[in-house]
Amino acid sequence: MNKKHLLTSLIALMSMSVNAQVYLDPNAPLEERVKDALSRMTTHEKVKMLHAQSKFTSAGVPRLGIRQLNMDDGPHGVREELEWNTWSPAKWTNDSIVAFPSLTCLASTWNRDLSEAYGDAVSEEFAFRGKDIMLGPGANIARTPLNGRAFEYMGEDPFLAGEMLVPYIKAAQANGVACCLKHFVLNDQEIDRFTVNVNVSERALHEIYLAPFKRAVEKANVWTIMGSYNLWKGVHCCHNNELLNHILKKDWNWDGALISDWGGTTNTWEAATGGLDIEMGTYTDGKLKESEFGYDDYYLAKPFEKLINEGKVPMSVLDDKVSRVLRTIFRTAMNPNKVIGSQCSEAHYETCRQIAEEGIVLLKNEKSILPLDASKYRKILVVGDNATRSLTKGGGSSELKSLKDISPLEALQSAYGDKIEYVPGYYAGRAIYDRVDPIDPKKQEALKAEALAKAKDADLILFIGGLNKNHRQDCENGDRESYDLSYGQNELISELAKIQKNTIAIIFGGNPYAMPWLDQVSALAHCWYLGSESGTALVNVLSGKVCPSGKLPITFATKYEDFPYVKFGAEAYPGVNKQVYYKEDVFVGYRHFSTNNVKPLFPFGFGLSYTTFSYSQPTVAASGNEVTVTVTVSNTGKVAGKEAVQIYAQAPKSDLERPIKELKGFAKTKLLQPGESETLCVTIPKEELRYFDESQHSWALTSGIYTFHVGANVNDIRGKATASINK
Ligand code: GLC
Repeated sequence: MNKKHLLTSLIALMSMSVNAQVYLDPNAPLEERVKDALSRMTTHEKVKMLHAQSKFTSAGVPRLGIRQLNMDDGPHGVREELEWNTWSPAKWTNDSIVAFPSLTCLASTWNRDLSEAYGDAVSEEFAFRGKDIMLGPGANIARTPLNGRAFEYMGEDPFLAGEMLVPYIKAAQANGVACCLKHFVLNDQEIDRFTVNVNVSERALHEIYLAPFKRAVEKANVWTIMGSYNLWKGVHCCHNNELLNHILKKDWNWDGALISDWGGTTNTWEAATGGLDIEMGTYTDGKLKESEFGYDDYYLAKPFEKLINEGKVPMSVLDDKVSRVLRTIFRTAMNPNKVIGSQCSEAHYETCRQIAEEGIVLLKNEKSILPLDASKYRKILVVGDNATRSLTKGGGSSELKSLKDISPLEALQSAYGDKIEYVPGYYAGRAIYDRVDPIDPKKQEALKAEALAKAKDADLILFIGGLNKNHRQDCENGDRESYDLSYGQNELISELAKIQKNTIAIIFGGNPYAMPWLDQVSALAHCWYLGSESGTALVNVLSGKVCPSGKLPITFATKYEDFPYVKFGAEAYPGVNKQVYYKEDVFVGYRHFSTNNVKPLFPFGFGLSYTTFSYSQPTVAASGNEVTVTVTVSNTGKVAGKEAVQIYAQAPKSDLERPIKELKGFAKTKLLQPGESETLCVTIPKEELRYFDESQHSWALTSGIYTFHVGANVNDIRGKATASINK
């Protein structure tokens, strides 16, 4: 240690005894606590704070009584406790929790109030388990339906994703638990996730991929963000100077701590100078791989301390990192208002159920076969692995040890008694993280034959299948290999429906899929992943106790080739030689389907109800820096229901090729009784109408006449109005 740093340390030690310990005063202003604590720390104590000291904790300063940071996965609930320093479960008996629905399910509710309720409830469970940082939510964009982790994210549209993240984050952080928004940025596939370099236009980067993160920073002040494994401009995002220091910390003026993904840090110089603040899981793969290296061998540990002590990296760089970590500690672990929290409370289960019920998307309902009138049926045959499979297990780091896990079959049996008969119909293998469980074709044939035989005696069939949390399904560290459902489900559904036309398909999964059987089934509900109350929520919707109001946050294409990037070949996905090119640019999801008139199987924002709604002619008032769209929605059907109203902006023609429509506002009605109306006023700041001008490297607004399309989904426009917008 050189003389300068020795002196700094001596001053730090001396100052400790002199002035009041402001950093310990819970009522002192945050920045004063940070500054005071920093002034008391030695260089070594500062460096130790910047990296893991166990699998899921980073160091505090015991000498000063500064707490460590306890982190844990994941976006849908608190992961089971792992051993301090291995990936093995710690075998606690009190870490079973509420498994909340997947974030795609939350996005499908289009209900900001439920997003707030979700963040409040799940963070109470994190607090109760003594966690300061929850490693979620996820904000990557569903550009491909094969992404193994899409279920952890909020769909294809950056506005919906961002808007549905904000209440969740604000509510969680109000409880003194930091969210860790992930994975920043461009981690939109799992294939080659540690090594792929993403090539994307500056405009698409800002308009699509950065947008949900920016909204969470600006509107929710998210306290921590997780860097992603992949590279951008040839540099790993966990320590990418342009991404982290320039865009995130300078342009967005972000004061939080950037945490690496587990194993996402690859070298000291970049980690030191590229904007990383807390290095986690180095030398591991974030799930299975162990390492002989110790925590002092981390890039931001001894090697970094050496650079500091040699003056090769200025103390100001170290102090900025430490300030961000201290700020996070004082916002959470040493926050006097951090809640005690609770676990598995009835309130949490109620929230879980509500989100699940409002996230279920009714996609088809011929002759109103739904809601079910069980008195019409003598024998209801339930077929499918997802009727009984626990879909809260598996999937990778978001896996959960849930106390309650009501399966669809259990709920159906308790609702409909011995009318219900069950056969699996197919075998789906085990939820193994890193390989596909081999399946015996003879066993499949036997299960299928059994189901088809039983079908002959049923007067209603509920097929409950879809994806699951196995490797190469909806699971981290691998993508799907096909747009089709696996395990012979397509053929099975088709043959069941040939035997009994009263066949209802109930599909779980985080991604769209082909439906060659769609015309043959009488009804179809897409359920994402519904968490601990899966069965209860499903039966509440099937029975009509709850009127479905979910709407798709992702376009369902008829065939895989219809997705915008596919025509560009492997370079566009999954990449060639670790290079992937986002050649569809900003035309992701409905931006492609609507602009290029490609008919989707089910459009973005689509979802049926048991009732119907009419929309008044919308009006638009432009004043100052915003426009306000007003529309009255009326329930014109026979049962109470909620409607998610969507507002798509169409910019005036210009030289720039822009998507014909872009979601810029939405609102969900309250529960409207038959005949009841609600007037919705949606305010859209003019800056939301901007595009990213690559020639200026900044956002720009085109003056002119904008059309605001108001509708039930992107292709079901019920009215429109125009307004003149000027810079
Ligand atoms: C994993 C995931 C990340 C998770 C972390 C800790 O590899 O990419 O989402 O939070 O490591 O488990």
